[in-house]
Amino acid sequence: MKPKSRPFLAANWKMNKNSRDTLDFIVEFSKLLGKKKVKADIVLCPPFTSLFLKTKTKNKNIQFGAQDLFSENSGAFTGEISPSMIKEFCSYVIIGHSERRNLFSETNTLVNKKVAAAIDNKLIPILCVGEQLHEREEKNTKNIIEHQLNSCLDNVKVSGDDLIIAYEPVWAIGTGNEATNEQIDEVVSFIRDRISQMYSDEISGKIKILYGGSVNLNNIQAIMKIPGIDGALIGGASLNPANFHKMICSVLDNKAS
Ligand code: PGA
Repeated sequence: MKPKSRPFLAANWKMNKNSRDTLDFIVEFSKLLGKKKVKADIVLCPPFTSLFLKTKTKNKNIQFGAQDLFSENSGAFTGEISPSMIKEFCSYVIIGHSERRNLFSETNTLVNKKVAAAIDNKLIPILCVGEQLHEREEKNTKNIIEHQLNSCLDNVKVSGDDLIIAYEPVWAIGTGNEATNEQIDEVVSFIRDRISQMYSDEISGKIKILYGGSVNLNNIQAIMKIPGIDGALIGGASLNPANFHKMICSVLDNKAS
């Protein structure tokens, strides 16, 4: 069995918090985390307009990620943000989130280009995959995940540390409908097997797999104990600094102060 890696906890703030709110969060959250090195990767993914606050964040425990990027590095793409712009402030970027796929019609083909562009630019993509409720009910979950992995990673070379996959069942996102630990375990093992086949056992062992979808203070500890899980992508429950901090403490088995 894959040994447990350092927990990776990413906060996906979606379209919440302006830069003032983000700064307030960072100030409070930094105090709660303290200066001592926390034994987890903690990544804030605020809207693009707050990424510059990386330059004002002194606490080394806090890293930054973007919520999306475009696949080209510059040019006539009104409204888009390029990998090199993201790189000024971030090491990570969420790609293919179900809200992008469902509300903004992002296809696996576009997600594939974005993943390739991120890796080319030495950004670590957090590639989101997951089934809709009707697909699960039709017992199509594995087919959907397999198709997403095949198309989103088509012709993408990875070494293992340069890609993170987030399993986010669409029906569990923002709904309070939690996936059971058995459901998560089954899909995460499937993802690891597929990555072994597509790349190698070694690469599959190195890739971090996160779970996302209604992760909260009550369920995070149990989710993190699922064997193939390396971390979580947390939406609503990460918006409050004290709550997010308590979640981190609970993963690290520390008492939140
Ligand atoms: P949620 O969102 O934790 O609010 O369900 C997770 C996500 O969309 O990444």
